Amino acid sequence: MVQQVVTIAGLKGGTGKTSTAVNLAAFWSASRSTLLIDADPNGSASKWHQRSEGGLGRCVPIQQAPMAMAQSWEVVVMDTAGGSRDEQRTYAEGSAFVLAPCPPAASSIEQVIDLGELLQQAQARYAVVLTMVDQRRAQDASKARELLERLGIPVLSTQISLLSAWPKAEAAGVSVKDARADSGRPDPGASRAWKQVAALAAEIEERLT
Ligand SMILES: Nc1ncnc2c1ncn2[C@@H]1O[C@H](COP(=O)(O)OP(=O)(O)OP(=O)(O)O)[C@@H](O)[C@H]1O
Ligand SMILES: [Mg+2]
Repeated sequence: MVQQVVTIAGLKGGTGKTSTAVNLAAFWSASRSTLLIDADPNGSASKWHQRSEGGLGRCVPIQQAPMAMAQSWEVVVMDTAGGSRDEQRTYAEGSAFVLAPCPPAASSIEQVIDLGELLQQAQARYAVVLTMVDQRRAQDASKARELLERLGIPVLSTQISLLSAWPKAEAAGVSVKDARADSGRPDPGASRAWKQVAALAAEIEERLT
């Protein structure tokens, strides 16, 4: 079994790393053995998993990763803390693929350009995914994509929309597929968000093989 580490990276906080990591791991868990490593000392992925009471598969803090990785997993997803270039470089070196979520906002784009340079130097296989894309401001995402591509930074064609299903899923300890609105009914954006997770997973798989 081939073990491939997919690291969710970023030099900045609040770009959607944990949301992406938890949901990608949940998606892959359905079809292959998947381990989620929480490398963020804040432990947000671990807390999300604790709320799920086992419903989202296996998640371990980074300290327990060496022991957990002694088992064979088909996919290992790693959530990282925003910041530290050295840390991001080290993680990239141990990864088959690095994914950098980036909302289409100036400060996030600047940071992802910086990260792109770092990952290129480290010769990592990586790509940016535009996330928290507000459909009413679709132009922002197109402009961000154009700029990044002009700089030679690979951007996946899948985009993750800004949808309430994401914070709802986090609060409930479920994947976005099972997010519910305050009324208790399925969140109206849940299936759209999950389709985007599936499309993102497929694009990453293409780049892994
Ligand atoms: N596509 C989305 N639509 C709406 N809200 C989102 C989306 N993705 C993430 N969020 C929300 O944005 C916030 C930040 O997301 P998240 O915690 O995943 O980012 P992060 O990069 O892991 O942050 P940190 O650097 O603090 O670890 C959370 O409240 C999350 O629910
Ligand atoms: Mg996080």
